[in-house]
Amino acid sequence: MSFLDAINSRRTFAIISHPDAGKTTLTEKLLLYGGAIHLAGSVKARKTTKHAVSDWMEIEKQRGISVTSSVLQFDYNGHHVNILDTPGHQDFSEDTYRTLMAADSAVMLIDVAKGVEAQTKKLFKVCKERHIPIFTFINKIDHFGRNPFDLMDEIESILGIHAYPINWPIGLNGNYQGIYDRATASIELFEKDTTHGQRKLASTKGSAADPIFKELLDEEVHQGLIDDIELLDMAGDSFDMEKVKKGELTPLFFGSAMTNFGVKPFLESFLSMAPKPQPRHALEGDVMPESEEFTSFVFKIQANMNPHHHDRIVFMRICSGMFQKNMTVTHRQSGKSIRLTQPQQFLATERTLVENAYPGDIIGVFDTGTLGVGDTLYSGKKKVTFKDFPTFPPELFSRIRAKDSMKKKQFLKGMTQLAQEGAVQIYENLASMDSYIVGAVGQLQFEVLSYRLEHEYGVILEMNPLPYTVARWFTSIDHDYTELKNVDSAMLVKDHKQRLVLLITNEWQSNWIAERNPNFIFCASPDELPE
Ligand code: G4P
Repeated sequence: MSFLDAINSRRTFAIISHPDAGKTTLTEKLLLYGGAIHLAGSVKARKTTKHAVSDWMEIEKQRGISVTSSVLQFDYNGHHVNILDTPGHQDFSEDTYRTLMAADSAVMLIDVAKGVEAQTKKLFKVCKERHIPIFTFINKIDHFGRNPFDLMDEIESILGIHAYPINWPIGLNGNYQGIYDRATASIELFEKDTTHGQRKLASTKGSAADPIFKELLDEEVHQGLIDDIELLDMAGDSFDMEKVKKGELTPLFFGSAMTNFGVKPFLESFLSMAPKPQPRHALEGDVMPESEEFTSFVFKIQANMNPHHHDRIVFMRICSGMFQKNMTVTHRQSGKSIRLTQPQQFLATERTLVENAYPGDIIGVFDTGTLGVGDTLYSGKKKVTFKDFPTFPPELFSRIRAKDSMKKKQFLKGMTQLAQEGAVQIYENLASMDSYIVGAVGQLQFEVLSYRLEHEYGVILEMNPLPYTVARWFTSIDHDYTELKNVDSAMLVKDHKQRLVLLITNEWQSNWIAERNPNFIFCASPDELPE
């Protein structure tokens, strides 16, 4: 396969959803149809309860690498598919957001009974800000759920994106029998699943005009379909691929991951529409995937939890050029030359050594501490600097200090290194110098921090949760922060770049403070602060 063909065949995406919408199940079914597994059930086994830290750490140790960091790959109809596995709810952390930085598109999974949920909204926002195409799969249609038109309305009103149904469920709510494909006006009726979705599902497919379908479907169901399609054609949005590419229109699919209903049509349609690896913005100008020079950026660092080996695996997304094992590249941030030995790729829980990899692919390499999240690596003579990752607004805060005051040095070293790795966000407490404030988007980040400080730096943490949920970076042209009014209930801190931040109990309070301090500009992220 030529270099260009290899790029064109790549499809790198992430599945975003609220816990329990069926992400694990859908991922598994995509692997089943992609031939990467032959019997569903093996990926599901990965999903072990991770409520307690110790459980989680055990899993990490046994596997040597986080189950949450895998990139699942398979080939399908000439496409090389990379699914970036975003962690589930117990694992929700900044890594989840960062993983989205490495995707060229996203699949948003929605439970037909629940509609758009909190975590879907957060993850959607990150994708929307990147202007990447978002495809929507309404899952669990084997169950009673909401009316499809209602769900379309909800997606539009809550997420602010128009939805274009590529297919439509046929049948009665809770007893859908098949799907109608709008582009080809064809019907596919699925056999009832008797294997709990372990194997591929048989179906009858044909033109909607074929009288056979009138016979196969109840009259009421057949008429219902005709009415729905008429309504969609008349009142719905028209399909516009350009809008899809910019993330302004989401192609909508219906199915049931558990029973495999609609999974194959989704996969095929999605792969034909999803973008190949796209150019990436760098400070020096856009980097085209076809460029000969190798470039990549680090989007995740996973420290091996084995306390005897402080090795870290750094995950990078290849943006341009061909990767070859043992190649030497420049690390933009330190200026150092680095040899990329033992590069690895992952399939479910297995690792394999990689000889070559292409734009869109994810590889993991061992690193001793040089590389940081968001860093750029490049092979050419010309410098390349991919833009910094955005700061993801933390929602949980804790005050931390070393239990043993004699360990202050190790504590500082550990905190600095772990914050650099992006394990948590660290803030300086302006009111007290002997403790730090850490911010995270998920509880697991605190648990990992505590575990790692103890096992890697020998520091036992004292950690006290704080009642804040909102961080606001702020600035003023001619006013000093001491002039802020009505901030008694908030906490004033500085982030790692010495920018001022207020930690506030909730959104309502935050708006109230902003109203009372018109001379200050408050932003939800430091990236939004005026220059
Ligand atoms: P997640 O990764 O998004 O958290 O969700 P996961 O796939 O684990 O699915 C959550 C639950 O929803 C599971 O049930 C799963 O079987 C079920 N599910 C997924 N897809 C469908 C679907 O299309 N239809 C129906 N009816 N259910 C679906 P569970 O009871 O938690 O686990 P299990 O005992 O079924 O394994």
